[in-house]
Amino acid sequence: MKVVIIGAQWGDEGKGKIVDYLANEAQVIVRFSGGANAGHTIVIGGEEYALHLIPSGVFYPDKMVILGAGMVIDPVALFSEIRMLEDRGIDTRGRIFISDRAHIVLPRYIQIDKERDAARKRPIGTTGRGIGITYSMKSDRDGIRIADLAWKEKMDGLEKADREFLAPYIDRLLAMSIDLSSYLVHHRNSQVLFEGAQGTLLDLDLGTYPYVSSGMSCAAGAAIGGCVGPRAIDKVLGVFKAYSTRVGNGPLPSEFDPDSEDELCRFVRDTGREYGVTTGRPRRCGYLDLVSLRYACLTNSIDGLVMTHLDVYDTFEEIKACTAYRIGDKIVENFPASIGCLNSAKPVLRSFPGWKKTLAGALTYEELPVAAMEYIEFIERFCETPIDIVSVGYDRKATIIRKSPWTK
Ligand code: IMP
Repeated sequence: MKVVIIGAQWGDEGKGKIVDYLANEAQVIVRFSGGANAGHTIVIGGEEYALHLIPSGVFYPDKMVILGAGMVIDPVALFSEIRMLEDRGIDTRGRIFISDRAHIVLPRYIQIDKERDAARKRPIGTTGRGIGITYSMKSDRDGIRIADLAWKEKMDGLEKADREFLAPYIDRLLAMSIDLSSYLVHHRNSQVLFEGAQGTLLDLDLGTYPYVSSGMSCAAGAAIGGCVGPRAIDKVLGVFKAYSTRVGNGPLPSEFDPDSEDELCRFVRDTGREYGVTTGRPRRCGYLDLVSLRYACLTNSIDGLVMTHLDVYDTFEEIKACTAYRIGDKIVENFPASIGCLNSAKPVLRSFPGWKKTLAGALTYEELPVAAMEYIEFIERFCETPIDIVSVGYDRKATIIRKSPWTK
């Protein structure tokens, strides 16, 4: 079976924890998009790990983890991540592969990314990891792929600084390189988990363009970046947080009002630990935006949702979620493409009673307070999509499974 897991918001939905959890029953985990702009925090037995490039399944000693064709790979970041894992006792030898079609991030792309974003009239607020520039080089057909490292003519034609940068990495990268399509044919009977990065609303096509990343973070990206056809995918899971966050610039229509809701924002940010894993930037926070979540369900054919961070609301009297936007004198229920519309959108909020109880320790859905169930079930009806998994804490154990991700 092949399951895709993607972010249904602006990234940072808690995918790392969920992928790590699901990886238990997978044999192969393929990350299909993005690069070291992503940051996944995984807590195992009280130990915290931050990953940027390597799929979270690496913590299981018997899993194969693959960096897919849709990824852009910074060798410096990759090998420092491998060293960090090895230093902390995780044996990665012979278990990390890279698609020979993946592109390489060069130091000068990182430099250009930072300079270009700083020079923009309206900066995107990129992570400064050279992601957009590497994808531009790819589209411009000037990129360097892993397979190119073995192609002498191409390597000889590179600028001296690029050749010198790549030289110490060539043998190690080639040793990890695979033909992903053939690999997956060979492992056709394995459970394969395709792990997305960022989120639907940061996807180059589906997201809040131009305030997006440059990869395909939508479910369709799993097919392209994972080197399989769309019909090979059996199931799509979309992860979302019980509220909204965004790092960097761009519209966040349900953002807490900085004048009247600053305290609420601070509480959610601190309780949910809403600081970027990659850049340390505080994340912007807001109400759960059901308009964009429903859009994510539709555009990704999400079969089941995974809700995270529900416990952040444990002490709330009342919880609110955005069910439509007020744009000028209109009520808008569909997610608009226009940044102008999204920038002027005001959230139409619906209230739900809080549960005023700690959710940590609930092992089954039935153990959740009724008010939490009502909130969950409203979201399911609104998005016409079931919530299969609910996460109520950072640890692997704080995960309520309503439907196994490995059943259709
Ligand atoms: P880039 O991917 O570095 O080009 O950044 C483009 C936009 O995507 C910026 O607003 C980033 O903050 C955002 N972004 C990129 N990766 C992530 C992520 O993993 N989580 C959340 N936001 C991200």
